[in-house]
Parts: sequence; C-alpha cells; structure tokens
Amino acid sequence: MNDAAFDALLHRFAEHHGTPASFAVRAPGRVNLIGEHTDYNGLPVLPMAIDRGVRMVGRRRDDDVVRLSNLGSFGDREFTLVDPITPYAAGDWGNYVKAAAQGLRKELGGGLDRGVDLVVAGDVPDGAGLSSSSALVVASALALLAANDIDVPYPDLADWLPRAEQYVGTLSGGMDQTISLLGQAGHALRIDFRPLRQRLVPLPEDYVFVVANSLVHADKSGAARAAYNQRVLECRLAAQVAAHLLQLDTARPVELLADVFAELAPPRAAAIVARMEASVPPRALTFGEIALLCDTDPAELRRRPGLERADETGRYALLARARHVLYEAERVDDAEQALLEGAVDRFAWNARASHASCRDNYEISCPELEELVAIAEASGAEAARLTGAGFGGCIVAFVPRDGVAALLAGLDGHYYARRGVRGEALDRVRFPLQPAAGAEVVQL
Ligand code: GLA
Repeated sequence: MNDAAFDALLHRFAEHHGTPASFAVRAPGRVNLIGEHTDYNGLPVLPMAIDRGVRMVGRRRDDDVVRLSNLGSFGDREFTLVDPITPYAAGDWGNYVKAAAQGLRKELGGGLDRGVDLVVAGDVPDGAGLSSSSALVVASALALLAANDIDVPYPDLADWLPRAEQYVGTLSGGMDQTISLLGQAGHALRIDFRPLRQRLVPLPEDYVFVVANSLVHADKSGAARAAYNQRVLECRLAAQVAAHLLQLDTARPVELLADVFAELAPPRAAAIVARMEASVPPRALTFGEIALLCDTDPAELRRRPGLERADETGRYALLARARHVLYEAERVDDAEQALLEGAVDRFAWNARASHASCRDNYEISCPELEELVAIAEASGAEAARLTGAGFGGCIVAFVPRDGVAALLAGLDGHYYARRGVRGEALDRVRFPLQPAAGAEVVQL
C-alpha cells in the first residue's frame, strides 16, 4: 500500500489527530462481468475486484467513539458504538461506516467496543455502479476489527457484511462485499450464495475490460434504491408463483428464485419460464392477482418469508423479471466456462445477451447507457453491457488489448466530448481496469 494516495492519508491523519496512524486498510470496488441482479436471488455472479477503491488509515481510541474525516469533499462525522446505532439522514456517507459497526456488533455478539479515528479516501466514483459503498463498508469493518484486535476470517465477513449493509435500506445481495474481500489479481471470481462459495476464473491476458461512466448518477439512496428494492420484491413474488405453478414440494419454504432453480434438472430456466408463461400474464400484476396465481389470499402471501415489506397496492412485473434472472444464471455458467476455455466469442455473446435482457426484461438501462454500449461496440469492443445495479452508472466493455486506444477514442469523441468532459477529467470517467486483489489491512 505504498503510494502517493496513502502518503496523503498518513499526512492528513498526523495533522488532524496529532499522532501517527497505526494501521492502513484498502478495500477495492468491483466491476461485475455478468450475473446482474442474480445475487439477491441466491444465484451466481461473476465480478472482478478493480484497482480502485477505498483506503483508510486509523488508530484505535481509548473510548467508544468513531471519528471520521476524509480527503474528499464529505464532511467529518462522529458517532458512538452503542446499540442500536441511529443512522444519519439517508444518503449520508457515514451510514456505511455505521452499517459496518452495527453489523459487526450484532454478529460478534459483543466485544466491538473500542472506537477509532479514521481518515478515508476513495477513487471509485459514487453512484457509478462500481460498488464504492460496499468498498466503504468492507474497509470500515476491517478498520473497526483492527482497532479492536479482533480477527474474523474473510469468508465469514463475506457472509456478514451484506446483511450489515442493509442498514442503509437497500435490499442488496452479497456480490459486492464478497468480491471486495476475496478478489484476486488477474482473476474474476465466480460466487455462489447458497452456500457461499467462490471459484477463481483466470482472465485472458490479451483482453481488457474498460469501464465508461454514463454520468447518470444512480443514487443508491433515492429513486434508484426504490427501483432496486422493487426488483427484489418482484423476484420473491415470482419465486412464490413459480413454486406453486410447478407444484414444488420443498423441504423448507421457498423464498428465492434459487430455491425454485435448485428443484429442477437442466435446462432449468426454460422449464420454469415455460410454466410461468402458460399462466402469468406478461404485464405488471396487482398483489391480489399474484395471490390468486398462488391459490391463496393477499394476507397469507404477505406472511411468507421476505414478503413482509411487500406493498399490497403496488404492481409487480413477474414474468419478465423471472425470465431475466433465470436465464442470467445460466449465462453466468456459460460465460465462466467460455473464459476457462479461452472462448472469447462465447463470453462476448453472453455479455451482449445479458445487456439485452437487463434492458428488455429487467428494465434497468437508460438512453445514456444504450448510447455508450452502441458507441463501445462500434469502436471495437467485442461486447459491452451495463454493470452493477443499472439505472445509470457504468458500462463495462470487453476489448482486445490492442484495441483499447481506439475504444477510448470512440468513447471520448462520441460520448464525452458532447458532454464537455475533456483532458485529464476523462481518466476519471472511462478507464481500463486491472483485475485486482481483495481487501487488506497493514499494521504500520
Ligand atoms: C448492486 C447490489 C448488488 C447486486 C447488483 C446488481 O450493486 O449491491 O448486490 O445486486 O447491484 O447485480
């Protein structure tokens, strides 16, 4: 962690606190290659950790106060390690640190009582779908553990921190925290969730992943959060309907589409979708209509696992969402195999199909992301797709190493020039990625 960014943090810490920092933490952001909106359905993803993320330096305190400052424009924060820790206003950066603190205290059942002084810096643009928020949660958790001399194996943290991050009100899955903790240089990571397992997938050296930011801010605490949580509910409702239509007799109650998937033999997506197509109208349904499809009443449906928050006055598009998630899970398998076999065309085919399904079935794209994908593909990318939650944020493009310059020139000329982004500012909005290592803590 020896670089100019850390030097700046160390300098600021000493200046601010009058004493040197005693440890440093780094947690990377990520780009998801394929497997979008599958994680909270218990189905696999294929992200890689990137060479940008959150860095912190810190020193333990003798009391139970957590003091935060940062090198960017976010203001200082201070809170106490009590139960429960009350959140700041929605969208406040300090909530991600509070999420880690509260989550760890819960999982550890006590013992995380010592406060810490932290100085934080990040170089993942926020609201860009590159997981700046989970990198902050992961880094905060590691810093709090370091300050309390507690050692938790990373796989356990990968299990705990997604639950911890739900403190901020997003019903997200476990991809971002897991890849930030367990990523490895030069590799993507296939992650399965039930149970949590990871498999390293080497990436072809003669290809590069380039991200390009649409500059449409996908605000995790505003409209994008509501749209995201709506997709989570739609999928849970789709799982109830599919399980009923397929007359599944499962050992434990069905909650996620993964529970339905697990009951069938391949080709699973086609079988489930075909059964749903026969009975589920291809439009947004009322809660009452969905209950009828499950042969029950709305009150009983709402009592099922994960549906306590369902809004009975809402409308839910089940068929299209299930179609996306189920086929996307199969695309992850095929894309992983393609990478292992060096079949770049097949990987690219899956990535393009993923994007089309995110746009048409999951409805998480926007005109700017479509424009970027078209420009990237016209500028030499084998494939380009939105990455992360969508509703704005970034695309990721897959391009031969010797085509990177042409791709960047295409993006600059056709997308960024029109939006007044030039010169050095370009390096902050579109850049080639190095598949990076996961989080680390260093005692200084
Ligand atoms: C966000 C969430 C993840 C995942 C992606 C979509 O990044 O935090 O858990 O659901 O969206 O694939």
